[in-house]
Amino acid sequence: MRRGVKPAGPGEITYSSYLALDEILGAQRPESARLGVDAHDELLFIVVHQTYELWFKQILHELDRVQADFAERPVDDWRLGRMVHALRRIGAILKLGIAQIDVLETMTPQDFLDFRGLLSTSSGFQSLQFRLVETRLGLGSARRLLYEGKTVDADMSEAERAAYHAAETAPTLRDQLDAWLSRTPFVAEERYPFRKAYREAVIAMLRRERDDAHSAEQTDEAAAIDRAARAFEAIFEPDPKAGWSMSAKAVEAALFITVYRDMPALHMPASLLSALMDIDEAMALWRNRHALMVERMIGMRSGTGGSSGHDYLSRTAREHRVFGDLFRLSTYLIPRDSLPPLPPEIVRDMGFVYATPADRP
Ligand code: HEM
Repeated sequence: MRRGVKPAGPGEITYSSYLALDEILGAQRPESARLGVDAHDELLFIVVHQTYELWFKQILHELDRVQADFAERPVDDWRLGRMVHALRRIGAILKLGIAQIDVLETMTPQDFLDFRGLLSTSSGFQSLQFRLVETRLGLGSARRLLYEGKTVDADMSEAERAAYHAAETAPTLRDQLDAWLSRTPFVAEERYPFRKAYREAVIAMLRRERDDAHSAEQTDEAAAIDRAARAFEAIFEPDPKAGWSMSAKAVEAALFITVYRDMPALHMPASLLSALMDIDEAMALWRNRHALMVERMIGMRSGTGGSSGHDYLSRTAREHRVFGDLFRLSTYLIPRDSLPPLPPEIVRDMGFVYATPADRP
């Protein structure tokens, strides 16, 4: 507590004053009420949007802390627990955001038409906080779809544009993840060159499968396995032209963490990767759900913000992914029994000292 600042005494703070309910509950101002138009559902439309904005605020608050922790070099292992916790919270909020669409969809397209014309050119497209969430996660302007040839900051106020560009020029969560992964210990050590060992294990596994296929005279399958062997190489030389966005070092470390996630030292890093995938998945689900809702509400009409509406939105669902590389890793996983065994000294180093007997395999 700050010096000289006293906590409120009995009766000085109430439920309503603490939550600033006068301001919050006084902040729903339907245009239909102002103009004397009968549009019962405009209040729902406003409340739902405002609720989202409050949740975006909370997400940005969580990102403040996660990004500050991630900015440490090296990242403090003691912080990983609370980083994972915050990322899981963000994922839970985003899931709530998807579920919230159910409530808005109780409004029929006809109910929406009662007041849609009063919204002028305003649109969720102009939500600064949404842009900040996307941008801070890692969706840079280079990867954004243009909307009617415009960039997302086209209709922003000066202050909004400044906030948006500050987020764009700062390291994003994806940049920070890349830098952190690239420093992962154990991945490229002399005593265990993971890349070489994994490559050999993959080839051995594919050969076994190919031999089985030959014995069963399934030559097509054998040819497919040959192709798979070549495709597997992509994991070690992730090509940005083929859609990879993380550096080769980071991809290799993410693969290492994923395949050896049972090692005690990797529990938290693996949970962190899972939490980021949950966030990416929830964002993509929200985008899809929102696009479907838009189709339901306005069909193929263009949006109040001027975009092609449903078409633009469903393309963002496909293309505005931030942690897609983590999903692509699954293409390159091999069963546990084909994994290259880790040398015992690495197993020991990655175990909890008090729990792992030195002679554990
Ligand atoms: C009846 C309900 C809704 C309709 C018909 C609708 C319609 C649209 C349309 C057509 C767009 C594309 C831009 C444009 O041309 O305006 C859009 C974008 C957007 N809307 Fe909605 N929306 C609805 C509800 C919501 C809600 C509840 C939110 C929550 C904040 C929201 C957030 C957004 C965001 C963030 C974008 C930008 C998406 C992007 O560029 O990737 N919308 N909306």
